[in-house]
Amino acid sequence: MSASLVTVAYLGAAILFVLSLGGLSNPETSRRGNLLGMIGMAIAVLATVFGPRVHISGLGWIVLALVIGGGIGLWAARIVKMTQMPELIALMHSLVGLAACVVGFASYVDTSIRFEGSEKIIHEVEIYLGILIGAYTFSGSLIAFGKLSGKIGGKPLLLPARHWINLVALLVVLWLGSRFLAAPDVQAGMTPLLIMTVIAVLLGVHMIMAIGGADMPVVISMLNSYSGWAAAATGFMLSNDLLIVTGALVGSSGAILSYIMCNAMNRNFISVIAGGFGSGGGAAAARQGDAAEPQGEVTPISAGETAELLREAKQVIIVPGYGMAVAQAQHTVYEITQTLREKGIQVRFAIHPVAGRMPGHMNVLLAEAKVPYDIVMEMDEVNDDFPDTDVAIVIGANDIVNPSAAEDPSSPIAGMPVLEVWKARTSIVMKRSMASGYAGVDNPLFYKENNRMLFGDAKKMLEEVLAALKA
Ligand code: TAP
Repeated sequence: MSASLVTVAYLGAAILFVLSLGGLSNPETSRRGNLLGMIGMAIAVLATVFGPRVHISGLGWIVLALVIGGGIGLWAARIVKMTQMPELIALMHSLVGLAACVVGFASYVDTSIRFEGSEKIIHEVEIYLGILIGAYTFSGSLIAFGKLSGKIGGKPLLLPARHWINLVALLVVLWLGSRFLAAPDVQAGMTPLLIMTVIAVLLGVHMIMAIGGADMPVVISMLNSYSGWAAAATGFMLSNDLLIVTGALVGSSGAILSYIMCNAMNRNFISVIAGGFGSGGGAAAARQGDAAEPQGEVTPISAGETAELLREAKQVIIVPGYGMAVAQAQHTVYEITQTLREKGIQVRFAIHPVAGRMPGHMNVLLAEAKVPYDIVMEMDEVNDDFPDTDVAIVIGANDIVNPSAAEDPSSPIAGMPVLEVWKARTSIVMKRSMASGYAGVDNPLFYKENNRMLFGDAKKMLEEVLAALKA
C-alpha cells in the first residue's frame, strides 16, 4: 500500500469514528454507530499493517499478535456478562495506558531514528507525557477495576495530607522532566524516566483509592478520557496521524461525558481531576452489599398485593437499577408495562444518570426489551412528578433513590441528586434483602411509612406480579 493510499484510508477511518460517536449518542442509532466504528477500526488496522512503515519481515509477528490479542478479546467479549461490562472496560483502559508506556520506552531506546535540536526536545516531551499519562491510566484503571468488581471496598482511602502528597509528587514529576530533557544520552535519561513512571503508577493508585463508591462513574469516564489522551500521545511518538485523531476523539468525548456526569452527580469537575472528591468529612461507607444496621421497621408486601396496588393506580413510575440488570428482568418489566397500559394506566420509566454500572446501562436494557423511548424519562424530566404518582416501583435500585443524599449532609452520597420516589403515594422497593447498594450506605427510604418492600429476585417477583395482574 502506498503512503498516499494509507492517508486516504486513515481519513476514511477517522470519518467513520466520528460518525460512530454520533451514532452512539442515541439508543436508536447506537447499533449503526457500533458497526461504523468496527468498520473504521478494521480499515485502520489493515492500512497500518499493509502500509509502507511495516517491513514484510515483521508481518509474521503482527499476525501472531493479532491472533493472540484478537483471540483474548473475542473470548473475553463472549464470556463477560452484561453486568461485568464496566469492569472489562476498566481493564481495557489499563491496557491502553500500559501500551502507551511500552511504546514510550521503546521509542526512547530506538536508535534507528535520530532526532536533533528542537525535534529531539519535542519527541522527548511526547515520550515523557505519553508515559506519564499511560502509567497513571494503567494503575488508576486497575484500581477502578478492583472497585467495580467488589475486590476492593467502596470506602475511600484518605491518607493524611493527601492533596500535599499529590502536589509534591507533581512537582517532583516536573523536576524529573527537566532532568530527562537535559540528559546527554539515553542511559542518563533512563533514570528520571523510570522514577517518574513509578511515581505516576503510585499517583494513579493513590488518587483512585481516595474516591468513594458512588462517585466511581465520574472516575471511570475520566479514566476513559485519559486513555484517549494516552493513545493520542502514542500517536505523536509514532507519528501516526490516525492514532492522534482517534486518541483525541476518545479523550475529548470522555472529558465531555465526565463533565455531564459531574453535573448529574452535583460534583465539581476540577475536584474530580484532583482526585478524592466527594469523600471528605462524610460518614464512611461500608463495603457494597453489606447488610446495614436496621434503622427501623420495614413493611413487606406480597406480589399479589403489589398487583392490586398497580391495578388501582392511575399513574405509575418504574425506577430500574442495577438489580434489574442482574436479574435480567427487563422483558418481564415490559410485559407488566403493556398489561397496565392496556388497562389505561399511565406508566413511565425514570432513569437516573448513574443507575446500574455504566452510562446508559438502563436505557440499553429497556431498548433491548423494546420499551418505547417516549415513556423512558431522564431524572430531570420526571422528578417533579412523583407527588402526583400513585405507585413508584423501584426494581433493584438503591443508591439512586436514597433520600439521605438530599437529607443528611454527613452521608457519603450527600449532594448527589436522587429520584424522589418517597414523594409518591406509595413506593415499592423490589430487592432480595436489606443489603446496601454500590455506595455501601443504608437507605432510609426502606423505613418510610408509605414504602413497601417486595423481597426476592426481581425477575421471579415480577413474574408473580404479572401472573396476578393477568389473573
Ligand atoms: P445499587 O445502589 O448498586 O443497588 C442495586 C440493588 O439491587 C442492591 O441493593 C441489591 O440489593 C439489588 N439487587 C441485586 N441483585 C438483585 C436481584 N437479582 N433482584 C433484585 N434486586 C437485586 O444500584 P443503583 O441504585 O442502580 O445505583 C447505581 C450505583 O452504582 C450508584 O452508587 C453509582 O454511583 C454506582 N456506579 C454507577 C456506574 C454507572 S456509570 N452507572 C458506574 C460505577 C458505579 P439486594 O442484594 O438486597 O438484592
